[in-house]
Amino acid sequence: MNKPFLDALAGRPTSHVPIWLMRQAGRYLPEYRALRTRARSFLEFCYTPDLAVEATLQPLRRFPLDASIVFSDILVVPDALGQDVGFVEGEGPRLQPLEGPQALAQLSPSRLQAHLAPVYRTLSEVRAALPPQAALIGFAGAPFTLATYMIEGRGGSEFHRVKRWAYSDPASFRQLIDLLVEAVSEHLLLQIAAGAEAVQLFDSWAGILPDSQLQLWSVEPLQRIAARIRARYPTLPVIGFPRAVGSAILIYGGETSLSALSLDTGQCIAWARRNLAPSLALQGNLDPVMLLVGGEAMRQETARILDSVVDGRFVFNLGHGVLQQTPPDHVARLVDQVHAYAPGNADAAARGDRR
Ligand code: CP3
Repeated sequence: MNKPFLDALAGRPTSHVPIWLMRQAGRYLPEYRALRTRARSFLEFCYTPDLAVEATLQPLRRFPLDASIVFSDILVVPDALGQDVGFVEGEGPRLQPLEGPQALAQLSPSRLQAHLAPVYRTLSEVRAALPPQAALIGFAGAPFTLATYMIEGRGGSEFHRVKRWAYSDPASFRQLIDLLVEAVSEHLLLQIAAGAEAVQLFDSWAGILPDSQLQLWSVEPLQRIAARIRARYPTLPVIGFPRAVGSAILIYGGETSLSALSLDTGQCIAWARRNLAPSLALQGNLDPVMLLVGGEAMRQETARILDSVVDGRFVFNLGHGVLQQTPPDHVARLVDQVHAYAPGNADAAARGDRR
């Protein structure tokens, strides 16, 4: 059976605009919150295939999504490298921060495959259980975003530590980025071998860098990882999500061997479409707060996004992940509206929403 998500990424015609959502599994679903109580820690949850398979499939049971993303986290890679990673309830990730270049010696890439074996098992079990139209996406954090968590020890701070390291000692920062290029490439190749049909690289913190540094620490690492995947799997879609980089998104389109870019909420899809290579697929970019609000505001904004897409290489998504307070019913309406959309006929999309 044809998978609309894979067809759209490859520029083949599709019967409808495909849709999946970043963070489509997780705490906004009551069945996830119930399942989550069965593991003591979030990482233990991620490393228990029975639980991770079920969490991956939960959104697919509710909504006719065109893709599922394996339930895991970007921080399993630093964990596999031997860094101390934890999640504080209600607050987010906490890592024992890398204190300087001497800390690099403590990271051991050789354990990655064995440590992450449960993630690969989850992928193969999900692949066997997916509805026929749905594709399976594997993912990883991009090297710069992982380095940010590894050096800062947490997200959402001022990011002075990671920037000071990168700007003052680029040689040792490059060692860390190179190590992460290797680890992330290996992790993605193993996910593909286990059944992933596309992969997405989350560079959630790329937007904190000025353009000159972006090239070094975000664009080039993504390019190298994409090239590694291309060498083994020439047609497998590699999606990049460099969040909050503004007009620098053009650098990613020009110089990486990425097959698609996922646009954050601040990007204009029509502008990106005009200025990026036609062979590059786009994904995005409804504001997650619109999904949370729902109703007429969401319907209009969704129709506007759909109408601004001028060719078929498009996958509908959010500009960032589903927020925890999102009513699941809004997701159902969004998926219906996107699936009912016929190009040049925004009214059909509106009717789909009210079916
Ligand atoms: O449905 C899916 O998208 C699959 C699973 C997934 C998770 N995290 C599960 C998760 C994916 C793709 C991620 C990616 C991820 N993780 C990113 C990149 C995307 C982005 O948001 O920019 C980042 C930066 C992380 C790191 C991370 N993990 C943070 C910042 C947090 C805490 C914030 C939060 O939402 O709690 C996590 C924890 C996490 N990862 C949860 C889930 C469902 C919540 C923890 C729990 O349920 O106990």
